[in-house]
Amino acid sequence: MISPDHKKFLLGNYASPVLEIVRGEGTRLWDSEEREFLDFTSGIAVTNIGHCHPQWTEKVSRQAQSLVHCSNLYSIPEQVRLAKRLTTAIGPGKMLFCNSGAEANEGLIKFARLASENPNFQGKHKILVADNGFHGRTMGALSATASQKYRQGFEPLLDGFEFAPLNDLDSFDRKLDDETVAVLVESIQGEGGIHEADDPFLQGLEKLCRERKALLMFDEVQSGIGRTGDFLGYQKAGVCPDAVALAKGLGGGFPIGAFWISEQWGEVFKPGSHGTTFGGSPMACAAAHAVLDVIENEGLVLAAKENGLVLRDGLTRLTGLFPDLLEEVRGRGLMLAVAMKKDPAELIGSLRENGLLVVGAGGNSIRFLPPLNVRVNEIEQALKITEDVLSSLQSKQSK
Ligand SMILES: Cc1ncc(COP(=O)(O)O)c(C=O)c1O
Repeated sequence: MISPDHKKFLLGNYASPVLEIVRGEGTRLWDSEEREFLDFTSGIAVTNIGHCHPQWTEKVSRQAQSLVHCSNLYSIPEQVRLAKRLTTAIGPGKMLFCNSGAEANEGLIKFARLASENPNFQGKHKILVADNGFHGRTMGALSATASQKYRQGFEPLLDGFEFAPLNDLDSFDRKLDDETVAVLVESIQGEGGIHEADDPFLQGLEKLCRERKALLMFDEVQSGIGRTGDFLGYQKAGVCPDAVALAKGLGGGFPIGAFWISEQWGEVFKPGSHGTTFGGSPMACAAAHAVLDVIENEGLVLAAKENGLVLRDGLTRLTGLFPDLLEEVRGRGLMLAVAMKKDPAELIGSLRENGLLVVGAGGNSIRFLPPLNVRVNEIEQALKITEDVLSSLQSKQSK
């Protein structure tokens, strides 16, 4: 039962919840009535190593006993080591740590502004982003988000953002003009309904950016940290960006965001140009190290690819069995969605009643985002629940 205080004391910006979650372990969550759920949401692509992984819990608990916060007035060894580790995974460059995905994208927007002071980039100020993308709820990140459903009520937003359809290189070509300082895209649009930027599009975009002297920036907040079967989603296309935003899976549930800037631009941020009180705290960095340790030790990037194929095959089989309800499967690795032919709310609700948690996304789709270390028998269990629920929805529909 949800406490009446929920509605009384919390602002109404989220849909009314129907579950009260109190405990998690691996791919499982329990509510306050001790009901058990298979969690194929991972807290919206956050708990990539599962809930309360023992190594994560141990490292975070140990850090809580030595130092939690000291601010960026001082050098934080765990932060320096994390920056070194991430630049090794991304490419030569530098990091700045913050607290969320929206903040990481704010960092990219500020980077684009600072870069426009460079002689090659002078006079440029526009940022070109993809339609149907999602970059966060702060005013800058929201300005980079095209969908009216997020923008409504908050305009006027920041000037200087232009939009073009994902995978339509001609449109990006037409809009990327002398005033464009940067292009910002997700390698797989998450909130928009799991739409992949295809490799030729990303390679074409990189070429356009180099020719016209614009920055190539990726929002890897949802698609990063192994979720797609590559450490970062854009890496599959073999392109080299100028900036990358990270958050969600990086802390495994502890809030941390970060952005990476390529070596060429490593000096644009100067003392005073940006900052945050909490960003890159010893606690947040310890959590991120624990995530990266588990990903490395347990081979979870490869696991996401392999488990993703099992889940994808199963979901594809279901689209064949239920053609009146399901349209197609999209995505790769463990960033998958099934697009439905109708509003998915009823299916999401019935799956929940039957012990499987999934999360909706744009375009009538349902995201399946289990942790990267989900077991094959858990995938099979999730598919069985989905098949049974779809069968009963189908028979209800044909009555
Ligand atoms: C691609 C992408 N960018 C940015 C964000 C915003 O992240 P946060 O909610 O941590 O601010 C999200 C959140 O869903 C996202 O999916």
